[in-house]
Formats: sequence, structure tokens, C-alpha cells
Amino acid sequence: MSSTPQFLTVTPEARPHVALVQLNRPKELNALHYDLMQEIARTLQELCANPAVRVIVLTGSERVFAAGADIKFMSERTAVEMLEIDQISLWEQIRRTHKPLIAAVSGFALGGGCELAMVCDMIVASETAQFGQPEIRLGIMPGGGGTQRLTRAVGKARAMEMVLTGQPISAPEALRYGLINRVVPVGQYLEEAFRLAAGIARMSPVAARLAKESVNRSFETHLDEGLNFERKNFYLTFASEDQKEGMAAFLEKRPPEFKGR
Ligand code: CAA
Repeated sequence: MSSTPQFLTVTPEARPHVALVQLNRPKELNALHYDLMQEIARTLQELCANPAVRVIVLTGSERVFAAGADIKFMSERTAVEMLEIDQISLWEQIRRTHKPLIAAVSGFALGGGCELAMVCDMIVASETAQFGQPEIRLGIMPGGGGTQRLTRAVGKARAMEMVLTGQPISAPEALRYGLINRVVPVGQYLEEAFRLAAGIARMSPVAARLAKESVNRSFETHLDEGLNFERKNFYLTFASEDQKEGMAAFLEKRPPEFKGR
């Protein structure tokens, strides 16, 4: 790591090929101060450059994933100051994480916290998790993708209700709406996220990267362009040793050993 993060605990080999990034600003309920966001963006970039890491799990504590952007910090800012600081541009860096990123969420995931979970590829939640966009109660609105990613995930009617009332939804509701992947008892959410991560870490990292890019592309373009993108990434997997290994292993009736090449 370039320098030790102040508000994160980073374990590059929490499990074989799986890194853990834990938000660690407990007194402020992991409020997403600019420095914390910067640390998240930088850490993810570094883990992406580390060939030993194939999947990243992002978590908070049992009480809180993250309670949103830092309200104390924002309360006296002008629009121009917000523009100059441009914290939200850091979301773009996080979005570009090319390795699979799993959010393990317990407790509050509100405002920027919900948006941070949604920028991940999958969400594993504890049964105490709450997902919400309460910005409207502060006289503002979501700014880190809350009106866009939430709407794509849960549909217009539910997104409107959440964004316009600020009322959070429970983990079982989030599961029913398709916002998250699974809900487990509170003592198990991190292990469940690791289990999901381990299954992905056994796959070819090259194929996982290209597949992730292709799924994400479906949110960003029309069908024709998306299918074209997918097809080219599919052909590109044949340039990898992992494709040869995966198919040889199938034919030889043995488990594959993917190297990420
Ligand atoms: N920013 C700064 N500090 C926060 C915070 C936040 N988002 N959320 C909580 N805190 C602080 C509280 O001020 C409090 O600090 P003090 O002890 O110094 O008073 C401490 O964390 C504990 O919080 P509470 O006493 O409120 O704890 P609680 O258990 O009673 O309530 C909560 C928990 C429901 C999460 C409540 O803290 C809350 O509603 N927080 C704000 C949630 C919110 O509105 N998030 C949206 C922020 S805007 C945003 O996110 C915009 C964007 O991304 C672009």
C-alpha cells in the first residue's frame, strides 16, 4: 500500500485471493468524509493492481455500513465549494474497479452508504440491514447515483418512494425488490460474503473481468451495442491461457486451475 489508510482496515489476503476492505470511522457511523472516499478509491485501485487479489469484499461494522456523506462537513458548504471539492467524482473511480466487488452490509446503509453498496457488483446483507436515500430530509437529494442505480435496480415506483419520502427499506424488502443478493442472520453476513467471493475467486480472473465489464455495459448502452461489446469480450477470452485450461480441465474431468493469464 502507498500509505496506511486512516479510516479503513485493509486485509489483502483475508481469504485466498480475496481482499477485505473495512470502513472504520465508528464514531461518525462511517460517514463518508472526502478523505475516507479518497482512501476507498485509492485502496481499490491498489488492490486491482495486486495480482494476488481476485475479489474484493467491502464492509462496515455490524451496526453500520455507512450513514452517508458527512453532514457536518457539508452543512456550511456553498455550491461552488461542493463543486470544487467534487467528492462525487471519486464515485467514478470506485465504479471503474475492474475486479468483482462485493458489499457485505449490516445495519445502516443510508444516502451515500446505500450508493456505495449499490456501486458494488453484489450485496450480501445481514437481516438488520436498512437501505435508504434520506437526503430529501436534509433538503438535498442523492448525488452519488441514488436516483440512477436505485431506479435501475428496484424500478421507478419504489425508487420514487424511497427518494421522495426518505423512508428506508429492510433487508428482506431489498431482497424482494432485487436490490441485494441475499440476507443472512447478523452473525453470518461477512462469512456469506466471503463464501460468495471464494466461488468467484476460483474462476478465471480474466473471464471475470470481461464478464463484469459486459454486465455493466448493459446499463450504459442500447441492446445492439451491448451485444456487440459482449461478443468481442467473449472472443477475447479465447486469448487467455485460462480458456485453454478451463476447457482442457472439463475434457479431462478435473478441476481447472486458473492463473489469470
Ligand atoms: N454525517 C456526519 N455525522 C453523522 C452522520 C452523517 N451522515 N450520520 C451519523 N453521524 C453522527 C451523528 O451526528 C452522531 O454524532 P455525535 O455523537 O457527535 O452527535 C453519531 O454519528 C451517531 O449518530 P446518531 O446519534 O444519530 O445515531 P442513531 O443510532 O441515533 O441514528 C442514523 C443512526 C439513523 C444513521 C442517524 O445517525 C442518521 O439519520 N444519520 C444521517 C443519515 C443521512 O441522512 N444520510 C444521508 C447523508 S447525505 C448524502 O449521503 C448525500 C450523498 O451521498 C451525495
